[in-house]
Amino acid sequence: TWTMVNIVDEQVGRVREQIGDKRAICGLSGGVDSAVAGALVQRAVGDQLTCVFVDHGLLRKGEAEQVEKDFVAITGAKLKVVDAEERFLTALSGVTDPEEKRKIIGREFIRVFEQAAREVVAESGENGSEVEFLVQGTLYPDVVESGGGTGTANIKSHHNVGGLPDDLRFTLVEPLRELFKDEVRKVGEELGLPPEMVWRQPFPGPGLGIRIIGEVTRERLDVLREADAIAREELSRAGLDREIWQCPVVLLADVRSVGVQGDGRTYGHPVVLRPVSSEDAMTADWSRVPYDVLAKISNRITNEVREINRVTLDVTSKPPGTIEWE
Ligand code: XMP
Repeated sequence: TWTMVNIVDEQVGRVREQIGDKRAICGLSGGVDSAVAGALVQRAVGDQLTCVFVDHGLLRKGEAEQVEKDFVAITGAKLKVVDAEERFLTALSGVTDPEEKRKIIGREFIRVFEQAAREVVAESGENGSEVEFLVQGTLYPDVVESGGGTGTANIKSHHNVGGLPDDLRFTLVEPLRELFKDEVRKVGEELGLPPEMVWRQPFPGPGLGIRIIGEVTRERLDVLREADAIAREELSRAGLDREIWQCPVVLLADVRSVGVQGDGRTYGHPVVLRPVSSEDAMTADWSRVPYDVLAKISNRITNEVREINRVTLDVTSKPPGTIEWE
């Protein structure tokens, strides 16, 4: 639309002015915000931008591939991928406390990202142009939530540059600071990003790590990834992507319940579906997903994911519940 073209043009102009002939780095999380911010800055300064994607192994099914293939193909962005699954799983081993998980994931993320940033800086040394800017997908609600200052006190702790060491001081580029989520999506469409990327549900920085209640292990992640992929597929198929803000699927990994399947007794794990409607995630209501869609999701998950024998629905609004379970 006219206004979106304007927003894109204006932001591209501003970013060009801010970055000049310097270089920038952008951490892609697999989410909408960082993808749109990266694509926008790429349009503004082209190869002066390097995107960095840390795969912490806590992503949804197909997500890493989407960044590594689709995003690069569409935007032409320079991308550095770091496979850090092993490192994150080792750091998380034995940890069950939600805040502890967040801290560990945030800390490891900063370390891996820092290392990658150092490499990008080193690689860019030859023509004397230093990497001076860090692109962040901070949205307006993030700015408000963090008190309106120039965003380092972002709730998205994995993007928090406050923790970067002195030799890695970047100036922030935040082209989405004035936008709400729906506007960011429209900007993404305007930039040519595919609907699967632009309309994907918000996803927390700590990823599936905070959707496994209990210790995070590779096996549990694989189980949850399958269940989550089924839920997303069926919600999309039912045309509910734009109606539902997000639908976390939560694995109650330390809970077992008895079931019966085929001719045998099972003793599997439950998952919780947490579909919510929201404008900005500050408040939310549980989504009234049609029963036949819920039935389809439940049948498919219990049939296709061996370890799961029960599917439950969370009908709590926010407040008092948060959207995520951890
Ligand atoms: P809650 O659970 O607080 O979530 O209602 C509100 C929104 O924030 C997302 N979320 C996070 N995002 N790092 C993030 O980047 C986090 O640690 C985190 N925790 C929650 C959540 O998915 C929802 O969209």
